[in-house]
Amino acid sequence: MKRELIKTEDGSHTLYIKEMDEQYHSIHGAIQESNHVFIEAGLSIIDLEEITIFEAGFGTGLNAYLTWEYAKQHNKKIHFVTIELYPIDNEIIPLLNYASLTKSNNQEIFNKLHLAKWDTTTQIDQYLTITKFKQDLTTFNHLHYYDLVYFDAFGPDKQPQLWTDEIFERITAKTNKNGVLVTYSAKGVVRRSIIKSGFEVERIPGPPGKRQMMRGRKI
Ligand SMILES: C[S@@+](CC[C@H](N)C(=O)[O-])C[C@H]1O[C@@H](n2cnc3c(N)ncnc32)[C@H](O)[C@@H]1O
Repeated sequence: MKRELIKTEDGSHTLYIKEMDEQYHSIHGAIQESNHVFIEAGLSIIDLEEITIFEAGFGTGLNAYLTWEYAKQHNKKIHFVTIELYPIDNEIIPLLNYASLTKSNNQEIFNKLHLAKWDTTTQIDQYLTITKFKQDLTTFNHLHYYDLVYFDAFGPDKQPQLWTDEIFERITAKTNKNGVLVTYSAKGVVRRSIIKSGFEVERIPGPPGKRQMMRGRKI
């Protein structure tokens, strides 16, 4: 898969895959989108000191980095469990400008998140521990229980096989009661799958360029 580094409207990078005509983040702003959908709509409403998060699609590591930044700012202890079947090439990592565009500006932590080995757990610092699985979401056997889920697969039009009832059911079975799931998609078919799996779902305002996103609460 050939990935092209492009700049989004807030100045932060994303990756574009020509064969799929799909990018890793919104072209209206990668950092802006991740902050809006995952940090503000998701992480900021979890009222726990210790939080376990599952992310579908580690990608550029942007969500992981913003989660670390939030944990440090709010003195939280986060276990970040993430899955990725197609890790990005090592040469791309130092080109991504995320750390430099955030308040924390910590390239060392960003690198550490990428250097953490696959299929093992790595303590990044006192705020964040990461478990990265290099596995396929469609067959993934969840080992942990989650308080929060970042569902950040490529769009349901591009990869419908990642937005199925079965995948959401397996995630729901491992989500604690009152746990939260956030995704940038607001599609009806996705909403129905998430509800069927055992979440209450609301449509809430999306990031710039996207009218709505979804947030579910495990019943
Ligand atoms: C929208 S991007 C994720 C963006 C990422 N969260 C970030 O912060 O940069 C979707 C990710 O899902 C990954 N992916 C695609 N198919 C997958 C599969 N079957 N299992 C696990 N990950 C997959 C892609 O390689 C890509 O990195």
